[in-house]
Amino acid sequence: MRKLKYKDLLSISDLSEEELTYLLEISKLFKGRYYAGERVINVLGGKSVAMIFQKPSTRTRVSFEVAIHQLGGYALYLNWNDLQLGRGETIADTARVLSRYVDGVVARVLKHSDLVELASHSSIPVINALSDLEHPCQTLADLLTIWEKKGRLEGVKITFIGDGGDNVLNSLLLASAKLGIDISIATPVGYEPKEVILKMAESDARKHGSTIEVIREPEVAVRGADVIYTDVWVSMGQEAERARRIADLSKYKVTVDLIKLAKEDVIFMHCLPAKRGEEVVDDVIDGKWSVVWDQAENRLHTQKAVLALLL
Ligand code: CP
Ligand code: NVA
Repeated sequence: MRKLKYKDLLSISDLSEEELTYLLEISKLFKGRYYAGERVINVLGGKSVAMIFQKPSTRTRVSFEVAIHQLGGYALYLNWNDLQLGRGETIADTARVLSRYVDGVVARVLKHSDLVELASHSSIPVINALSDLEHPCQTLADLLTIWEKKGRLEGVKITFIGDGGDNVLNSLLLASAKLGIDISIATPVGYEPKEVILKMAESDARKHGSTIEVIREPEVAVRGADVIYTDVWVSMGQEAERARRIADLSKYKVTVDLIKLAKEDVIFMHCLPAKRGEEVVDDVIDGKWSVVWDQAENRLHTQKAVLALLL
């Protein structure tokens, strides 16, 4: 297996197009071997991974912990506030100490800049397990799922409905642009993707001749869509803005009527957790279009690839 170019995985922009494709191929390999009954593949050889969480998690925590175990490593779940970090020890000092004990860090943080600081003072790989800016590990599972369901990635059209500044969307947008996936984002005024993310994505999309569109009308955005994707309207850390966000995003709900305007064989995706009744109705997330459970499962397989190639 080839190692990745950078020490860390903080952003999809840390990966080249080839590395992104390679990660998906290795994920498929791990998934195949898992289904063939090979539960433990000892690529970590007893290496230890610290998993620091500043916010709650179900999928990321469990899939990483199980992935590390199934790769022959040892995972330590560390709540941010239970570490001395919670009492004010600096991120830099924490990074220096952890680098002496473990072989890698998986971290979910409120501020992306804290992750960058953690990585810059660590001599070991740091993996983004979600920040306010990005969720690259989620994107890898999303891409593997699309690849499995559609048989290809290039030329697929993803429509994202909801908050254009969403962390999950940022990573999906950057990755789509690298792989020639068309992406259409329906979002209200004031919720457009960050200029810096859009610029990076547009530059990659130009190389493939793929398109990125940011529009207002969900009904227009879903035309010709192979994939409809959404995420919560209120992300972790945005609770104080809840009332305003719900009001602004209320027209950006994925309903059965909306999904029927897309391609006949469209699939519905959501990183989860979902706020049922807000960004998506039960009839969609539980309906024939939904691939959300396969998508959640794929976190396990793609994270194995990340761990194997970084550690
Ligand atoms: N999709 C995802 O990252 O879920 P958790 O917040 O449960 O980890
Ligand atoms: N945008 C959501 C994703 C959760 C996996 C959040 O940050 O809360």
